[in-house]
Amino acid sequence: MEPLIAAIDQGTSSTRFLVFNAKTAELISHHQVEINQSFPKEGWVEEDPKEIMQSVYECMERTCEKLCQLNIDISNIKAVGVTNQRETTLVWDKVTGEPLYNAIVWLDLRTQSTVERLINKAPGRNKNHLKHKTGLPISTYFSAVKLRWLLDNVDEVQQAVLSERAMFGTVDSWIIWCLTGGRNGGVHCTDVSNASRTMLFNIHTLEWDPELCRYFDVPMEILPKVRSSSEIYGWMKAGSLAGVPISGCLGDQSAALVGQMCFKEGQAKNTYGTGCFLLRNTGTKPVVSEHGLLTTVAYKLGKDEPACYALEGSVAIAGAVVRWLKDNMGIVQSSSEIEKLAAAAGTSYGCYFVPAFSGLYAPYWEPSARGIICGLTQFTNRNHLAFAALEAVCFQTREILDAMNQDSGVPLTQLQVDGGMTSNRLLMQLQADILCIPVVRPTMSETSALGAAMAAGAAEGVEVWNLSPDHLPHVSSEKYDPQINSDESEFRFARWKKAVQKAMNWET
Ligand code: G3P
Repeated sequence: MEPLIAAIDQGTSSTRFLVFNAKTAELISHHQVEINQSFPKEGWVEEDPKEIMQSVYECMERTCEKLCQLNIDISNIKAVGVTNQRETTLVWDKVTGEPLYNAIVWLDLRTQSTVERLINKAPGRNKNHLKHKTGLPISTYFSAVKLRWLLDNVDEVQQAVLSERAMFGTVDSWIIWCLTGGRNGGVHCTDVSNASRTMLFNIHTLEWDPELCRYFDVPMEILPKVRSSSEIYGWMKAGSLAGVPISGCLGDQSAALVGQMCFKEGQAKNTYGTGCFLLRNTGTKPVVSEHGLLTTVAYKLGKDEPACYALEGSVAIAGAVVRWLKDNMGIVQSSSEIEKLAAAAGTSYGCYFVPAFSGLYAPYWEPSARGIICGLTQFTNRNHLAFAALEAVCFQTREILDAMNQDSGVPLTQLQVDGGMTSNRLLMQLQADILCIPVVRPTMSETSALGAAMAAGAAEGVEVWNLSPDHLPHVSSEKYDPQINSDESEFRFARWKKAVQKAMNWET
């Protein structure tokens, strides 16, 4: 039997455990569990760290059972990679192993006033004041302000810091710490891609930055050790996979870049999950955006390998708009139903939906923007609304693709896509129509998990996955060509832009 590599993909909406063949990249088996989100106050988004870990254990055990049913020996699993929702912030007690508050999810807006205060006191009120070190604008999105909130507002966190028991981490750190033994010697680490989303990390030196930590008044001793994205961090301590090394760690968008094999400068991918994230590999040099994109560490595939960087366009709400139509509005019973509804309308009939539920991310970075639906008539029905929601995902992608093309000067001629939403064929066609370029989707859309598995399998001491260009596995794909003329596409995009202006100035 050929070696197998597994990946934990802990996303905002669900957790998955997937097992791949390390030679062919074929997906052998997997299991998925949805994650509950709580919204304790308007704009707040939290998840339960224990539920996250429970879902990881459940997915691992169920997948192992499925492998046994397929007569596959689980001892063929040679390593496990971790990929995760980025920026989501946790603090736990290293002695008891207990989380000291819920995980504050990346979408959370509770720090909006802190962010406004920091921007107001920055020279020239420049939100990009820290960009030269972090690659990021000051925003509610990143971990530093969330951690600041925890330090200011949660007694248990303050006490744990004073008694030197506090550990901070993004979701990758929490998972790795728990799986490698937790309070009995768990490994407290993160990788460069996740660290680069905290705003405490210097993306040039690849270290926690004392000046940034002072700026946010964060004690450096609670931070995890920063490691490369591909090396053995530790070994699983319990469960069916006890003894298997954990040797890959990548933020989910970086993992998708790897899983889509975008290793060359200029290659790009767009992942449609809870949000939507377009990353373009810029090689070993960090490129600064002039058009509202982020500079981020894409990956560092080995201790002695160089770090590679990416320009990133981040959209906060993509799949989340479908979940909102389901959970909050009851317009659809299941997420997959949206395609049927939108297809029945075939048009939004002039209705535009800007789902700025968490403000607007790239290229605007406007935390005070709020969602709007405009252009309604008595004729508008839920089918039109479903269509407008899908179109919103496509328009937002168009905005970040335009920014990316302007920054690089070399327009993308086709877009590689992946993520859960890409199984929606109508969305894929709509995306090609709105971008006026072909959209290419791999048949196996779990590319984040594949990327984490590749990083884990290639790590020193595991070495069952060869990442050299000649050995990359062939993956089949499906292509969507634009089917409307560019005049119509431009007309609809111009209307969308007007709607965005209203979402940004909805109070005036
Ligand atoms: O930056 C947030 C991102 O990592 C979340 O990804 O897949 O949960 O939308 P996803």
